Amino acid sequence: MDGVQEVLRFHDYGRIFSVPGLYEELFYSKLQCTSPRTIAGLLKDALAEAGGTPGSLRGLDLGAGNGMVGEALLQLGVSSLVGADIITEAETAARRDRPGVYADYVVADFPRLDEATRQRLQAPRFNLLASVAALGFGDIPSRAFATAWSLLETPAWVAFNIKEDFLSPQYQHGFSLLVKRLVDSGLLEVHRRHAYVHRLALDGTPLRYLALVGIKRGEIPSEWWEKLDD
Ligand SMILES: C[S@@+](CC[C@H](N)C(=O)[O-])C[C@H]1O[C@@H](n2cnc3c(N)ncnc32)[C@H](O)[C@@H]1O
Repeated sequence: MDGVQEVLRFHDYGRIFSVPGLYEELFYSKLQCTSPRTIAGLLKDALAEAGGTPGSLRGLDLGAGNGMVGEALLQLGVSSLVGADIITEAETAARRDRPGVYADYVVADFPRLDEATRQRLQAPRFNLLASVAALGFGDIPSRAFATAWSLLETPAWVAFNIKEDFLSPQYQHGFSLLVKRLVDSGLLEVHRRHAYVHRLALDGTPLRYLALVGIKRGEIPSEWWEKLDD
């Protein structure tokens, strides 16, 4: 960077995405993130077991960043993908680093979609939602996930990851509560529940996550929305 040293906060994605290759170097080379290929692999197996084919899937990648997950899903044979993120730097980086992966890329705050953006996101009739390394603990709030859920057809495949202890009884709010209710009610029919090392922390400690892959079986009831955070 022109010999200039800059201190970046770890979650300062805008600045990280602005430097080509930095996100991959940090999260994938140094911290050994495995999640895009882990989740794509689980989806592939679950789909095959259920008699589905990747070519029938039209996906929304929520918290898409610069396209690592989109790339893995496209390699699987998914027919089309739309990326979505809250920062414009992510869209710029995805177009720069992985042109052609996303048919469209929407920069929006999901709990507050305007009508034009909602229509743009309804047009592809998504039957796959992927959200990787982006949910819970300060990233994508539960209302944003619920909004993405509302954009899916029924049935639709849903594939995401969360911290391993996120479904434990100690968490009773926000995204944790929403996922528990989706699973317990059968609105999310779970086909794969896989504990694994998502990546290393900066001090080298393995960060254990849970990947969930399943099928949306219905809409989120209106009374649940009151408890969602944004
Ligand atoms: C760790 S990155 C993951 C990127 C990509 N999914 C991957 O696995 O490489 C988290 C992404 O979530 C995005 N994000 C955070 N909060 C968000 C929100 N409220 N809505 C949409 N995207 C959000 C960030 O901008 C960032 O691009």
